[in-house]
Order: sequence, then structure tokens, then C-alpha cells
Amino acid sequence: MIHIYKFFLLLFNLPAIIKGAKIGKNSLLAPGYDIIGVNLSRLKIGDNVLIGRNACIGSTFGQGQIIIDDGTNIGRNCQIQSLQKIHIGKKCLISYGVSLIDHDHLLTDPKISPMDGLLTTPKPILINDNCFIGAHSFILKGVTLGEHCVVGANSVVTMSFPKNSIIAGNPAKLIKKI
Ligand SMILES: CC(C)(COP(=O)(O)OP(=O)(O)OC[C@H]1O[C@@H](n2cnc3c(N)ncnc32)[C@H](O)[C@@H]1OP(=O)(O)O)[C@@H](O)C(=O)NCCC(=O)NCCS
Repeated sequence: MIHIYKFFLLLFNLPAIIKGAKIGKNSLLAPGYDIIGVNLSRLKIGDNVLIGRNACIGSTFGQGQIIIDDGTNIGRNCQIQSLQKIHIGKKCLISYGVSLIDHDHLLTDPKISPMDGLLTTPKPILINDNCFIGAHSFILKGVTLGEHCVVGANSVVTMSFPKNSIIAGNPAKLIKKI
């Protein structure tokens, strides 16, 4: 039975492994994740990690590092795009439809279209251990969340917060401390 389980883990993870991802023990990238044109050589997933269906995870220009530590669970339809570094700590619960992107399109020059593909300088994102990120939230470049932070559903997190903060809204503001 365990052999069949491990066979399916390998089967589902294989396209990502071929693309260079390092995936730990008992971890699963569920089917439907992006692989065409995506560079996964800088993706490192720890042990006992679950990433739900239809994940869109990529290293922009093959430069950005993505680290997901042991025991973290990420829901369906996540967007994780790194040009520099995105690090999600241990045993975090990231709900469905959450985006983490450490850079932006260059939007400040009226002569340059967003379609020209120029990007701003990236700033790393760090989500420390045991955080909960509510459904459909967006974590913007440069954000650090301390351990055990909670992000309310549909929040846009534009700045960093210390450990044990419960934040929510657009832009996310502190609503309580744990
Ligand atoms: C953030 C959250 C955990 C807070 O829950 P709570 O501690 O029970 O908070 P309360 O309901 O007491 O709300 C406190 C205040 O924050 C506001 N608030 C709560 N959640 C909010 C959200 N997601 N966005 C904006 N404001 C929010 C409330 O309106 C309230 O404001 P007020 O004091 O002005 O009345 C919860 O509201 C939430 O968003 N949970 C995530 C749900 C989710 O994504 N589930 C997916 C499961 S995998």
C-alpha cells in the first residue's frame, strides 16, 4: 500500500523534478501545476509538504529562489513567483488562491508598457513558521511575517508585521495580537 502511495507521489512530482525542483519526503505537488516554460531549478520543498492543485510556481528568468519548509500546506490555485527569494517557513497553512510575488512590473514610466516586460527591483518575502494566510490573500514584495501571524481572507499585505499579529484588509492592518 505504502509503495502505491509513494508511486503516485513520484508520478505527480516527476514533471517538477525533471524541471529541477527538489522535493522532500512525503511531499506532493498535486496535479495541474504549471510546467511549460517554467524554471523550477531554484524550488526547494521540504518534507511532508502539500501543494494543492493548479499551483503556479515559478522562478522569473530562472533567478528567483523559492523555499517551502517542512510540514507546510498550500491550498489550490496558489501563485508563487520569485525573482529574488520567497521563503515559507515550517507548518504554515496557506489557504486557496493565495499569491506571493516578490517583484512588480515597471509601471512608473508612461513611455513603457507593462507588456514590455520590464520589472522593478525585487524584494524578498519571508513567511516565518506557523503562519496562517487566509484565502485569496496577496503578499506583496518585501513583506516579512513573524512566526504565528494570521492573515484574514482577501487581504493585501503591503508591509511587514511582527510575530503573533492578526492582520486583515486592503491594505492589511493589525486587528489583534495573539
Ligand atoms: C482574520 C480572521 C482569522 C479573524 O477572525 P476573528 O479573530 O474571529 O476576528 P473578528 O471576526 O473578531 O474580526 C475582528 C475585526 O477584523 C475585521 N476582519 C476580520 N476578518 C477580516 C478580513 N478578512 N478582512 C477585513 N477585515 C476583517 C472584522 O470586521 C472586525 O472589524 P471591527 O473590529 O471593525 O468590527 C478571520 O476573519 C478570517 O479572515 N479568517 C480566514 C478565513 C479563511 O480564509 N478560511 C480559509 C480556510 S482554509
